[in-house]
Amino acid sequence: MSTRPPRGCDGAIDGCGPTGNGDPVCTKDRAILFFIFCSGKSWYKVRHGCPEARAARFFSHITRFEESTMQKNVYVAREVFAEVLDFLAPHFTVQANQEDCVLSPEELARVLADKDGAMTTLTERIDEPLLGRCPRLKAVCNIAVGYNNIDLAACSSHGVMATNTPGVLDDTTADFAWTLILATARRLNEAEAYVRDGRWDKWKLKQFLGLDVHHATLGIIGLGRIGQAVARRAAGFEMEVIYHDVQRAAPAVEAACRAAYVPKEELYRRADIVTIHIPYSRETHHAVGGPEISLMKRSAILIHAARGGVVDDAALVEALRSGAIAGAGLDVFEGEPAIHPGFKELANVILSPHIASSSERTRFNMAMKAAENLVAALTTGNPPNLLNPAG
Ligand SMILES: NC(=O)c1ccc[n+]([C@@H]2O[C@H](COP(=O)([O-])OP(=O)(O)OC[C@H]3O[C@@H](n4cnc5c(N)ncnc54)[C@H](O)[C@@H]3O)[C@@H](O)[C@H]2O)c1
Repeated sequence: MSTRPPRGCDGAIDGCGPTGNGDPVCTKDRAILFFIFCSGKSWYKVRHGCPEARAARFFSHITRFEESTMQKNVYVAREVFAEVLDFLAPHFTVQANQEDCVLSPEELARVLADKDGAMTTLTERIDEPLLGRCPRLKAVCNIAVGYNNIDLAACSSHGVMATNTPGVLDDTTADFAWTLILATARRLNEAEAYVRDGRWDKWKLKQFLGLDVHHATLGIIGLGRIGQAVARRAAGFEMEVIYHDVQRAAPAVEAACRAAYVPKEELYRRADIVTIHIPYSRETHHAVGGPEISLMKRSAILIHAARGGVVDDAALVEALRSGAIAGAGLDVFEGEPAIHPGFKELANVILSPHIASSSERTRFNMAMKAAENLVAALTTGNPPNLLNPAG
């Protein structure tokens, strides 16, 4: 049964004020408020000696303020930690995909059609066809440092702010690159399977002979945030570190990383371990392909924890199969989660499901950073990690 009081002053505290039932004020109060409103408007005109237009501007500020404080709708496209949703809740009406299904482009366009903002991941493609169907969208906040799933030019032309999460995952991703370096160099996957399968019958001098990591030459393609974190860790193994980047690092960065700049071809020829840390884009598609891999030593290994598509997977399968290189440690793949079937047939490759940034703390920090970007984007228009500043 409805508890809604009758219209008028009944049910309101002291015969006036909010009734809590959708009738904000009683008739007497409306008259008083109307009087105050008109007096205020006249006072404003008198005080500023203003023409009608200035008064109109003043009252339009009030309207705009009301609009800006209206509840905005946001969508969280993949499962996140409950604390992240709690953080968003006071600011927005939040719809979240905690079932964690990957939406098709059609489903994503439908769910974002009435949203002001979204938190996305690499599984959501934000492009022209989608943006054309989401007229309210003002912010897309990726839970990742990579943003090749977002067409920045299309976002800018639709007035959509795009953000990423740089910095919070450098160390965790670098740790994992090192996990792959050590495991691949020492053939840990093969050795583990050997023990697990019950094939270990005796100690042998020439068993699972691997590559020494200490004092080896580490070649880093892309000395950005993560590449630098990988380089710094090499000091403990007393390695020689060489790098190639489209932009040579500042002398202070080279010194901190103890890394020497070399041309790309020299890096592939000299390195015992090549590790890739560049973003994926049209320009870096297959940046590491047959020609690059063919320069590597037969004893060398390739580590890839950047983005699927940077390495030509078919060329890598061929190199691993033919023994052109000794091994590879891979966290990312072209067309993942599907992978080139050739990888599964090879013992000299370690495969992991895109988990380089996946520590409990870092994945939490990534999601929280994306949420902070979303709140800032939709409340101030100035998110900290804006990728496409206007103008
Ligand atoms: N596997 C994972 O879970 C995981 C986690 C984090 C980041 N990543 C990937 O790592 C990439 C790098 O992240 P970051 O934060 O270090 O980025 P960053 O922008 O700090 O560094 C990238 C570096 O690559 C260089 N570069 C670009 N194109 C190049 C090319 N063709 N040849 C040589 N150098 C080139 C840039 O100049 C820059 O120095 C991200 O874009 C992301 O795709 C993957």
